[in-house]
Order: sequence, then structure tokens, then C-alpha cells
Amino acid sequence: MPEIFINGQAVQAGDDQTVMQVARANGIFIPYFCWHPNLSVPGNCRICVVEVEGEGGGSGWLDIACNMPVNKGMRVHTDSPKVLERRKATMQFVTLNHPVDCGICDKAGECTLQDYHYQYNGEPSISRDAKVHATKHYALSERIVLDNERCILCTRCVRFTKEISKTHSLGVIDRGDHSLIRPTEDGAFAKDPYSDNVTDICPVGALLPTQFLHKARVWYLKPTPQVCPGCARGCSIDVWHRKSEWKLKALDAKQNARIDRVTPRDNPEVNGPWVCNKARDLAQHFERARALQPMLKGRPVELAAALEQARQMIASAKSAVALVSNWASNEELAAFAAHLAPRFACRVKTDCQPEPGEVVEDDILIRADKNPNTAGARARFQALPDDARRAFPDDCDLVLVWGEGFNFGQLPPKARIVYLNSWLQPENGHADVFVPISVQTERSGHYTNFQGVVSAFQACFAKPAGVVDAESVFTALALKTAKVTA
Ligand code: SF4
Ligand code: SF4
Ligand code: FES
Repeated sequence: MPEIFINGQAVQAGDDQTVMQVARANGIFIPYFCWHPNLSVPGNCRICVVEVEGEGGGSGWLDIACNMPVNKGMRVHTDSPKVLERRKATMQFVTLNHPVDCGICDKAGECTLQDYHYQYNGEPSISRDAKVHATKHYALSERIVLDNERCILCTRCVRFTKEISKTHSLGVIDRGDHSLIRPTEDGAFAKDPYSDNVTDICPVGALLPTQFLHKARVWYLKPTPQVCPGCARGCSIDVWHRKSEWKLKALDAKQNARIDRVTPRDNPEVNGPWVCNKARDLAQHFERARALQPMLKGRPVELAAALEQARQMIASAKSAVALVSNWASNEELAAFAAHLAPRFACRVKTDCQPEPGEVVEDDILIRADKNPNTAGARARFQALPDDARRAFPDDCDLVLVWGEGFNFGQLPPKARIVYLNSWLQPENGHADVFVPISVQTERSGHYTNFQGVVSAFQACFAKPAGVVDAESVFTALALKTAKVTA
């Protein structure tokens, strides 16, 4: 392993590493726009320039760290006066035609151009020429809007569609200061199921998701670590929602407890820094109308009455079957296994199927199983057979249905039904006992993905009034005197 020196500090480098990689591995910061750890190296922005000492400490030379292979004994300076002078000139060049949009730009607060301007330049433009104007609001697709004036032509977005999503759906047209990012004419970008990742990797506010456009300043929001439940990959994500100290007053309270946006959380074991677009649309899944009222055959009752009725039905059942949710967390499954499973023949059902038009499976991230914890559930219980009716013995007199997605027409006609579900659905009123349960964004837990990787998620929001965690329902049903409050 060659030893090199960065800012006088001796560091070990891999044979085929670049100065940028070695610096990052050793906690030494070098700025970058076009470089990205998961993409190829175009070396076009020049902001990562560093100085390499000449032989015997002689006059050094400047070059880009992202494309500079390490050489045994080389001495690199990341912030020498020569470097800072060149970096300032580079920032002047990069911002030559960039509009001063920060006050209205959604990227403000997360924009590397803004940060580097203050860190390495901080001066007004030295140009006396008018800025070149370009397309300000170009719809790349229904999901993403492009502001060509803000684009610094780093080509990260182009390389993403070439190297990661492999749709080859973005390119650069024209030349010099008239260069523009444009989608290919076959509409491939609009169909790219990973397209929204370009909005994360764009270092400036040129690519913005329409679903978050002008919705909130990012410093009013906070991320909570979550797991995407959209398929069995279980990508690590951050769910962004309003900080309590920036709570909106005198407006719809839901605005303070809604998913404002979803971004990937880098997890090399599962999804790297990417997610598919389904994760970005999780708000649509979680903001469906909720079931909030415990019921006995459609008649509203207190939670305690519903639980007591369920407890009696379970205690007196002769042949009971439980259909276990594959959206249940490992903790909920453990609680069910400990408290109730011995009284039931348990089968894991499939809560969610692919939606019409959705990409069912690919060789990037997307899995055909559209549920987050099939592996965790099946590690404990058998799968429901394809013909669900085979799971019910002739004398079956009780079925506990946990979660959505089961066709009630397949239930044995004489069996009584205990139903735990989160959504407002007609089946709720047909159950003998209905208990509304919390959703993933209201509780913490773990899922096991199809590879066996266990990932944690944390609660983002409080449960609505009337709703209870499935885990506490199971505990209460097992204990004669237990009390559960919503
Ligand atoms: S749109 Fe953004 S990611 Fe694409 S080239 Fe321009 S600055 Fe880079
Ligand atoms: S690949 Fe699956 S888990 Fe990952 S973001 Fe897409 S739907 Fe969610
Ligand atoms: S980050 Fe090295 S040239 Fe752009």
C-alpha cells in the first residue's frame, strides 16, 4: 500500500485509488461537483483542484483530485494559497451565468454551489457581460422540472441514466454556454422508474421534484430513518416531515404531520444511495383514508369492548386460523408468536400486489414481492397457499385477519372474523370485531429484507386518536385483565 502525504499528514492509499478517494477515506475534505462516488469520473467542473509538490519540495503543480491516481510518496495540498486562488477563479467561472436564485430556489439549504460560493469565493461576479439566459422551467417529465439557467453541466444526471438506471435517457445538446440538458425523444426518462434520483445528485437547484416544488424550506423539515415498504428490497430511506419548532399554526393540522418528501439513505448493503420512484410516492400510500373506530359488526364501540369481545371469541374458538400480515415488523411478529400464535393455525398472507403500470421486477433494486417483511414473517409462519381456501379446515370457526389485501369472499362462511387493519375499507364493517391499528410511520421496528438484511425504522408521527399498535393488541388479548389505550 503506497503511503502519501495530504496536507503534511501521512496516509495509506490503495494502489488504484485517486487522491479524492484517499482524502475522503481519511476525513480530509476536497470540494466536488461533478464527481460522485457511485458514478464514473468526467473531471469537468475543476473545483477539486489540489496542489502536488514538485521534486525536492520544488514548485508544485495543480490538478484535479478526483482523477489523480496516487503515487508512492506524493505530497498533496488541498488548501494551499495556489489552490485557493484557482478554486476562487473556478467558482467565478461556474457562477458566470448562474442566476442569483437562492431566495426562491428549493435547493437552498442543501446546495453545494451556494456553500462553495461562500467558502471559496464570496465575491460578486467580475464579469461585466449580461448572464446568458436559458430555459427556466423545462418539464423533463411529470415528476421533474429542469431549470437550465441553474445547471452547471456537471453531467451527473446524464451519467446516472447511462450507468445506474441504464435508460440512457438524458444528454447534453449544443455547445459552450448554450449547452442544455435534454431528455431523449423516445420518452425514456419519463418511464425511468429511478428518475427521481437525479434530483438528489444534482449539486444545484437545476433538477427539482414537482411533488416537493415550493412546498417547504428544507430547514423547516427533519428526516426520520425509515425503510421503504414498497417491495422486499426494503431500501433505507429518510422520511422528511415538519420540525415541531417550525409547526404551522392556524392551518390544517395535517400539514404538521405529513410526509413532505422521501430521500434515499445510503446503505451499501441494501440500496446504495438510490431508491426507485415508488419510495418518493410513499405519501400517497400512507395518506389514504384511515380507519379510526373500533367496531363490533360495524357498530362503533370503545376499544376495550372490541378487545374483550375478540378475547372471548379466541378463548372459545375450536379451530382458529390467523392470516398474518407481511407488513408486520419483526417486533409485532414476535409479540404475536409469543401471545397468540399457539391458539391459531398461522399463515402469512400477501398484503400488497403490484399496482397496474408499476415495474414489477428488474435487476437493479425493484423486487416482485411488493411487501417489506415477507422474509421476517415466513421465518416464523408458513405461507398462505395460492388457493387461500385450502388454509381453512372444514371446522374453522374463527379467522383473525391482520392487515389489508385479503379477499373476504375466500373466508369460510361460518367462521367469525377478528380484523386488524389501518385503512378505511368496506370489509371493516363486516368483521365481528374490527380494531384500527397503526401504520409504519407511527411506530418503530425492524423488517427483514429478501436477502436477510434486518433494517430498523423509527416513528415519524403520533398515532391518530382511536388507533392502537398491533403489538399491544396481541399483548392485551393474551392477558385477561390487560388494558390497552389508543
Ligand atoms: S441538471 Fe444538475 S445534475 Fe444535471 S448536469 Fe446540470 S447541474 Fe449537473
Ligand atoms: S426498490 Fe423496493 S424498497 Fe427500494 S425504493 Fe423501490 S419499492 Fe422501495
Ligand atoms: S469534482 Fe473533480 S473535476 Fe469535478
